[in-house]
Amino acid sequence: MQAVLDYLQRHQSRFIRELVEYVGFASVSAQSRHREDMQACAEWLAQHCRGLGLEARVYPTEGHPIVVARTRRRRGRRHFLVYGHYDVQPPEPLELWQTPPFSPTLRNGTLVGRGASDNKGQHWAHLKAVEAYLRTGTELPCDLTFLIEGEEEVGSRSLSRFLRKHRQTLRCDAVVVSDTGLPARDLPALTYALRGIAAFEVILHGPNRDLHSGIFGGSVHNPALALCQLLARVHDARGRIAIPRFYEDVLPLTRPERSQLRRLPFSEKAYRKMLGVPALFGEAGYTPNEQRMARPTFEINGLTSGYQGEGSKTIIPAWARAKVTMRLVPHQEPQRVLRCVEAFFRRNCPRTVRLEFQPGHGCPAYRLDPTHPDAQAALRALRRAFQREPVLLREGGSIPIVHEFKEILGTETLLLGLALPDDNAHSPNEKFDLEVFARGQQLGVWLWQELAGT
Ligand code: BES
Ligand code: MN
Repeated sequence: MQAVLDYLQRHQSRFIRELVEYVGFASVSAQSRHREDMQACAEWLAQHCRGLGLEARVYPTEGHPIVVARTRRRRGRRHFLVYGHYDVQPPEPLELWQTPPFSPTLRNGTLVGRGASDNKGQHWAHLKAVEAYLRTGTELPCDLTFLIEGEEEVGSRSLSRFLRKHRQTLRCDAVVVSDTGLPARDLPALTYALRGIAAFEVILHGPNRDLHSGIFGGSVHNPALALCQLLARVHDARGRIAIPRFYEDVLPLTRPERSQLRRLPFSEKAYRKMLGVPALFGEAGYTPNEQRMARPTFEINGLTSGYQGEGSKTIIPAWARAKVTMRLVPHQEPQRVLRCVEAFFRRNCPRTVRLEFQPGHGCPAYRLDPTHPDAQAALRALRRAFQREPVLLREGGSIPIVHEFKEILGTETLLLGLALPDDNAHSPNEKFDLEVFARGQQLGVWLWQELAGT
């Protein structure tokens, strides 16, 4: 393996130059004005893969194109899928960037640019590891397919259909995804659980138009007040969700899980300071890491009613609306949870307003048994690449397609994140640590050795 590792070291600065070019594409999936940038980015990626000797294709979809690049299949070899996404979050607000989001810049050992960490740099590390095998004439011990999509940040709708259609050729032993985090540069992690999600909107309709609050106020239930009263009943005084049956399928945290989470470095003061809040809030009886990684939540993402413009306007609004997402833990079913929540809102909604409930997207949580032989192989690869004992993580975020890999392809996913907590994913000044980038490439080298043998 020394030749492969030496190759990586020798070519580090070119890898970074290539990543600069890749991050330079404004591949913003949410914004239609970037349609051509999406296409160009996908073509560029496929062309790059061809240059490495991979067989690569760009598949058009109803949404953004999907790039598939593969090594030749050989009988008797294990086959792994490496999933990533070339689409990025919108860069706005632009004025908060120190350098333009799509003019990637090297600064203090990091590459700054939208998508550098989430997710271009992370799958670039895997691709460069494979390049090192191919260019040094070192035999890859397994067959690999890179599946890089363009709609992760908007819900992976096309990919779900694509998986069903190409189920035969995408059949594999496991999926490898680097799109989560590691607690610190020298603390590698295997994420063995992700939270699921269930989205909905609730709208309370009051009077048939905005009313003069002087003429009618006092005799009509203000829908903004009614919505606040309703939402205020969702949590009890101890921060627990008071919706009957909400926790019905939630398994208690086991002692080993709790001690695993306690081993993560954590300072409440530093955490509070990083977030700029005067005090933390959460479900009593759980630590902040347990609350955000391993417990379900009910989060209001948006709350709208009445007049928000300049000056004052004396009205009783005609309606009030909340956008909510709930994070789910293993065994909770998004549809079932949504039904409990709708029933709760209907039961508690006063007769003075009309309730409209719109269910939205959702996916169940994901969980992998860390004693699974492939998870153990991944841990060995992390140990070899980082020269440190890896930790097991549960993460609070969601990657909807991971559940589909299991449903449609019947395979588990190994989540080997390369994003640091302060990489600014989804925020201005997103960056990717170049030391972690190099470690990620080494991880890509050892992973195939370890996985081939399980
Ligand atoms: N890469 C994140 C997911 C993530 C980040 C998982 C950190 C674990 C740790 C991904 O790009 C993301 O933001 N996903 C969305 C999915 C949603 C829109 C369905 C999320 O979690 O909000
Ligand atoms: Mn991502």
